Order: sequence, then C-alpha cells, then structure tokens
Amino acid sequence: MKKDFLLLSRYTLEELSALIDLAAELKAKRKAGKEDKPLEGKTLGMIFEKSSTRTRVSFEAGMYQLGGQALFLSSADIQLGRGEPIEDTARVLSRYLDCLMIRTFEQEKVERLAAYASIPVINGLTDFAHPCQVVADLLTMREYKGNDLTGKTFCYIGDGNNMANSLIVGCLKSGMNVRIACPQGYQPDAGIMQWALENGNFLCTENIREAAAGADVLYTDVWASMGQEGEAKERQRVFQGYQINAETLSYAADDAIVLHCLPAHRGEEITAEVMEAHAAEIFDEAENRLHAHKAILVSLLK
Ligand code: CP
Ligand code: NVA
Repeated sequence: MKKDFLLLSRYTLEELSALIDLAAELKAKRKAGKEDKPLEGKTLGMIFEKSSTRTRVSFEAGMYQLGGQALFLSSADIQLGRGEPIEDTARVLSRYLDCLMIRTFEQEKVERLAAYASIPVINGLTDFAHPCQVVADLLTMREYKGNDLTGKTFCYIGDGNNMANSLIVGCLKSGMNVRIACPQGYQPDAGIMQWALENGNFLCTENIREAAAGADVLYTDVWASMGQEGEAKERQRVFQGYQINAETLSYAADDAIVLHCLPAHRGEEITAEVMEAHAAEIFDEAENRLHAHKAILVSLLK
C-alpha cells in the first residue's frame, strides 16, 4: 500500500525518528560531497495554493539532488484553480507523476487528494498542520541539544496555528515537555491539546513567563498566517506581548536556542535583536528543510 506524509500524528515515534536519522544521514552525505541518486527517473508534482520560498525551493532542489525532477504547479495555472475537482486532479496526476506535494488551506482537501491519488502525497502546509517543517525543526533541536530530546523543554509563544499544532505532536512524541503561551481564543486545536494532556507533559497558558521558564528551545511564528491577512490588524492588538524578546529569553535556560519557521516579522512575534543573536540556529533550521524533505521523499519513494 502507498504511504502518505500528511500528519505527524499518523507516524509512530520510531517512524519519525527514522525520518530524522535519514535526514541527518543525507545532510552528512551532502556535506561530504558523497550523494547518490536514489530517485533517478522520478517526478514530484508540487501544487501550491499559497505562497512559499522554503518549501518550494527545498523540495525542488532536493528532488534534483536525489536524481529526480520536480514540477511547480501553481493553482492559478492548473485547472484546479478553475474548479476542477481535487479527486479528478489526483487521479490524473497519479498517471504522470511518482509523488505529489500540496500546500493549501483545508486539511480535508489534502486528505481527499491523498485518498484519490495512487501515489504518495505530502502535506506541504495546511491551515491545520505543517508536518514537513517539524521534521526539520526536530533535526535542528537534535543538532543543538543532543540526539535524545527526552526531558528537554520546548516552549512555543504566539498563535495556536498550524505550526503550534504540528510542533505539539512532534515534540511530545520525541519525549519533550511542551509549553504553549498564547492569548485566550487563539489556542491550538482542541483535539490536539486533549491528546497532548493525555500523552505527555503539556501546558497551555496565557502567561509567557510560566511557559518560558527554564525552556531549552523557544519557538515562535507569525501572528497572522497566510489566509488571515484581513485579521492582521486585530491580531496585532491581541498578540501584543506574545513576543520572543530579551525578557522572554531571560526566563529560559541560559543556553536556550531560538527557532522560527520563517518568514519572520521583526518587531511583532520576535525582535530584530533576538533574530540576529540567534541567526545561527534559525538559518540552520531553514537549511534543514532541504535535508528533511529529501528524507521524506526517499522514505516514500524508495
Ligand atoms: N517555513 C515555511 O514553510 O516557509 P515557506 O512558506 O517559505 O515555504
Ligand atoms: N503559520 C504560518 C506558517 C508559514 C510557514 C502560515 O501558515 O502562514
């Protein structure tokens, strides 16, 4: 049966760990100039209904590095954008391609694409989840905090959005303590929080100090995600103070790292000073998207 990469909750800890191990291995091979081409002759189709820099470029470059090729399919240019059903798009593209990646709004649309496609489907971000990012994030955390993340404290500050949802699952599965600080009404998905409370050391609070206390990793994301542009002004008001700045860092462990999935809005969720002081890990994290996506592709297509 074909395998998809849609949600981290459908991956066991062993599968997730194996993916991160493979990403680390592919990264080392690339650094040593010893890459092989396991995906020769394979084609990845990438459907984008939202903007992207990192996801698009790293999947495309990654596919080339693995010996295959990638097609950028903007929904503005394919018939999907003119109302062709996702079920038909899935069945047609499955006849031409070996793998599909999609970035869209509704998680349900990705699920329908995967249900009708006979080839593996990768979730390249929905309003609900961003699992690809979290594979790169966990690789970065391992690089800075050691391979065993058990007992390390992860703190996310800001909007309870797609990133928060996926980070809760990925970090808790990895044995980390997870702390979320966000304003009332902007919490992560209720089902994920329920699962988190039942399956790990989890706290969601409005209090940044409480969430960041002793944290090994501080993480944030934009206050207004793609598709929420109309709410940006109201969100700037609601999220005031939910920022990674010098004060937030003072609550965390002395050797805490700061991560951000990017793009960053300096002066909103993070200060320019913290961004620059932690540029090393933040841009390692961005680089790790490449290695993580290659691992996802190899694991689905090998
Ligand atoms: N972090 C992330 O997914 O970046 P892009 O939107 O540029 O792909
Ligand atoms: N929460 C952000 C993540 C961007 C990578 C968004 O969905 O726009």
